[in-house]
Amino acid sequence: MCGIVGILGTKPVADELVDALRRLEYRGYDSAGVATVENGHLERRRAEGKLKNLAARLNDEPLQGHAGIGHTRWATHGAPNERNAHPHMTDKVSVVHNGIIENFREIRDALRAEGAEFSSETDTEVVAHLITSEMRKGDGPVAATGRALKKLRGAFALAIIFAGHDDLMIGAREGSPLAVGHGEGEMYLGSDAIALAPFTSQITYLEEGDWAILHRGGAEFRDRAGNKVKRRSITSSASGFLVDKGNHKHFMLKEIHEQPEVISHTLTNYIDMTSGEVAFPDTGIDLAKIPRLTISACGTAYLAGMVAKYWLERYARVPVEIDVASEMRYREAPMPEGGVALFVSQSGETADTLAALRYAKAQGQRIFSVVNVRTSTIARESDVVLPTLAGPEIGVASTKAFTCQLATLACFALAIGRARGTITPELERELVQALTEVPRHMVGLLREEQQYEEMAPWLSKAKDVLYLGRGTAYPIAMEGALKLKEISYIHAEGYAAGEMKHGPIALIDENVPVVVVAPDDELFEKTVSNMQEVAARGGQIVLVSDANSDKVGCRVATHLSVPSVHPFAAPLVYALPMQLIAYHTATFMGTDVDQPRNLAKSVTVE
Ligand code: M6R
Repeated sequence: MCGIVGILGTKPVADELVDALRRLEYRGYDSAGVATVENGHLERRRAEGKLKNLAARLNDEPLQGHAGIGHTRWATHGAPNERNAHPHMTDKVSVVHNGIIENFREIRDALRAEGAEFSSETDTEVVAHLITSEMRKGDGPVAATGRALKKLRGAFALAIIFAGHDDLMIGAREGSPLAVGHGEGEMYLGSDAIALAPFTSQITYLEEGDWAILHRGGAEFRDRAGNKVKRRSITSSASGFLVDKGNHKHFMLKEIHEQPEVISHTLTNYIDMTSGEVAFPDTGIDLAKIPRLTISACGTAYLAGMVAKYWLERYARVPVEIDVASEMRYREAPMPEGGVALFVSQSGETADTLAALRYAKAQGQRIFSVVNVRTSTIARESDVVLPTLAGPEIGVASTKAFTCQLATLACFALAIGRARGTITPELERELVQALTEVPRHMVGLLREEQQYEEMAPWLSKAKDVLYLGRGTAYPIAMEGALKLKEISYIHAEGYAAGEMKHGPIALIDENVPVVVVAPDDELFEKTVSNMQEVAARGGQIVLVSDANSDKVGCRVATHLSVPSVHPFAAPLVYALPMQLIAYHTATFMGTDVDQPRNLAKSVTVE
């Protein structure tokens, strides 16, 4: 995950910027850079590789500016070299950026037509040129930035400085976190409070869509529409720790809100954003020749595997066998010669998953793992590790780790589909595009969080809740039920919508809320029929869907509306309503959502 730091200081800031970037090294990076405003001009130094290379560059060619921005870059658009390292700049503006600018190609083409010359392959550079273009039309830096921000689509965080403006820095947040630090006659920006801990503990976290105009004397905040808004500052406890709740009440809520950022990060690990194709690491295993794939995992990770089964079978045409690890390890299942077994685990230490891995290995399978903790036992015992870049997940209920598993598995399915020739290059680009839009849709969905809070008092009264879905929405429904029961202790079950009339329908009456996960896709009409069966028996339907209410054709108690999203990418976006329903219901009931009773984050016993 890229790291951002900005300082409006009272002495040369380059060394402090590098020190602050060091505190963000844990996020991972492959190049770094800083820029400062020096005698009215913008100057920058960048280097490929570790921060010591940047420090050496600065030693040879020091920067003297008292206002500056710094960045550690994890390559997304373009190779990890100095040319693509941030900051990016024109003669007027210098920018560092985290996240994805989805519409960078169209903006770049329009700016090129105006005469702008680009020197990198990055999406970030369009931001510098776009603001410059607005300034050339006569706007000052603040107005030009406001106009430029309105043209950007995606999920991102930005820090910007301007030639000729030694006392100005602008930060903007849309999907990726950004914190403003308040000092004594100095001001700061950081992608998290950890970077700013040596300077200040007084932090203001920007809200989605916010941008902040910083001068040494303080900060002014604007919302997405450009209105001046007040944002409170808090005292951060980040100084000693790498994990901090930010301004969220619980780690779980923080981790839910981190998803646009960590999904961007995970996707860009497996996608070449410049070409719009999957860029999978060479595994040394011929993906075209896999006869069968066995997937195994536990809990939420198993449900990610279930979604992957739909993707792998449909797009890569690989037969997939999936089982929970605690069953698979004892089933003595036969496994084909040359087969691949894939294990999904946040912690990489789950005892049953590890035992299933060892069983598959003994059966001669090549072992792939999708893990969040790269130093874990499961990672170490795998032939190929596909890391999820969710960062530390502290809440016991898995949220961001789950969606990052989905992001990784979606790319894996496309990589196999490409190797086997079961998807055309056009379809691959369409599906990759769908994935890159996910962080933005997540931002949109999180903006509507209040509807989940409003529903919580009603849902908290339920004794039993059913969750229904079809296709990839079926494992998402199961995940919704798992989330609700583990943190609110309300009994909940997830079913394939079509299975309802084979048993669970007997439970339905006016006291049973039924959460129906129904993206407006090719299966929507079928799910509507099942919903009508529920409504006819007085069941209280909570519809989670992007479909217009008039397509539903029966009474629903609540319609939680979801942004319209390509069906391929829908599981990633629909996971969020599942998390928010559970979180708000549980917090209304006053349970300990971060450490629910009887549960452990890492289950290292059988
Ligand atoms: O660390 P792992 O992903 O292997 O853990 C698997 C399950 O224990 C885990 O997903 C569990 O179901 C979570 N509590 C779900 O929120």
